[in-house]
Amino acid sequence: MDTRLVKNDFPVFQYHPGLIYLDSAATSHKPAVVIESVIRCYQQENANIHRGLYPMAARASAKYEAVREKVADFIHAGSSNEIVYTSGTTDGINLVAKGFLSQCIQPGDEIIITTMEHHANIIPWQQLAQSTGAVLRVAPIEADGTLEVSAITQILSPRTVMVAFTHVSNTLGTINPVQELVQQIRAYREDIPVLVDAAQSAAHYELDVQVLDVDFLVFSGHKIFGPTGIGILYGKKSRLEQMQPVRFGGDMIDTVSFEKTTFAGVPRKFEAGTTNIAGVIGLGAALDYLQQLDRSDLRKQLRELQEEASNRLAEVEGLRLVGTAPAKSAIVSFVLEQAHPHDIASFLGAENIAIRAGHHCTEPLMKAWGLPGTIRASFSIYNTREDVDRLVKVVKEVAAFFA
Ligand code: ALA
Repeated sequence: MDTRLVKNDFPVFQYHPGLIYLDSAATSHKPAVVIESVIRCYQQENANIHRGLYPMAARASAKYEAVREKVADFIHAGSSNEIVYTSGTTDGINLVAKGFLSQCIQPGDEIIITTMEHHANIIPWQQLAQSTGAVLRVAPIEADGTLEVSAITQILSPRTVMVAFTHVSNTLGTINPVQELVQQIRAYREDIPVLVDAAQSAAHYELDVQVLDVDFLVFSGHKIFGPTGIGILYGKKSRLEQMQPVRFGGDMIDTVSFEKTTFAGVPRKFEAGTTNIAGVIGLGAALDYLQQLDRSDLRKQLRELQEEASNRLAEVEGLRLVGTAPAKSAIVSFVLEQAHPHDIASFLGAENIAIRAGHHCTEPLMKAWGLPGTIRASFSIYNTREDVDRLVKVVKEVAAFFA
């Protein structure tokens, strides 16, 4: 499967010929089929869901619920009732912190995260800990960005009430051994809830929530070729049943009186108000698109692009790679001693190369490693060897310019 052909599926590259897009960790581009599905939704199929009885509304509801089935298949959930629509990864983690953990957390309880977490997988837990007298414990990582399983198991304690960690680091590209981590956590105590942030992994890696045995898993539509404003929270049925809704309103109820409300079952009780219907439809189209690709072949090619970019960039005078774990996704972070990451990003931007520079919403990681930020090139299924050539050539020019 040639990534140059995949690239043709993405209209942005026709509107911006010559664009070297290396910021897919921030957001992926959208194939024409996804864009068209959203247009069709508004042009031909627009109706609210779960409410109207006329045919167009019934069709809208059926399509909306069919995507829930697709998502369940995509991550191998046992039932589509374990799939909650959210606005994105951040929303999903906030929902678990507020709706699940805040129901049972006690002063002195411990929430475990890791040094490499994105702010979205730090702040909801930190806020909850601060308001309840609980403690946030941070598992350290190795100098190359590896998270050793023992870094987490060593800080498990009888007070651990949640372990939340990322599958793939958005800054370092490290791929964490989710299955092994969960097994070891379960070996310590079977019922510790585990949440996995799959924002950076869902586009490229096979996710099987039953094999991984996670309690919660979250990801965003916009990073897997779908629209912004739509995301998924997977929760084991028993966990979702323990979880309380945190948003109240239409469509999440069973009965309402002025005295009392009873809620719908899972997952409906978490989806108050009119949700992002077009986003759900676009996400469904993105999953259809992904399923017809040879994902294993694309994964191999992405690995090769990452290795080639890393090896060639490492030879540039003054350049240091940040995050060199053996298990790495297609993310290459680096610093250049000659210049600040923002200056380099501006230079690359002027050359039509889109990369991200800064702390990448992992400020505690940057502080722990004494870095002002990094320059991050993140590859996706539409990137090619020519993109790597161009990146390396221009980074060499920047290095020479600032020398
Ligand atoms: N979390 C996204 C990134 O890493 C926005 O760029």
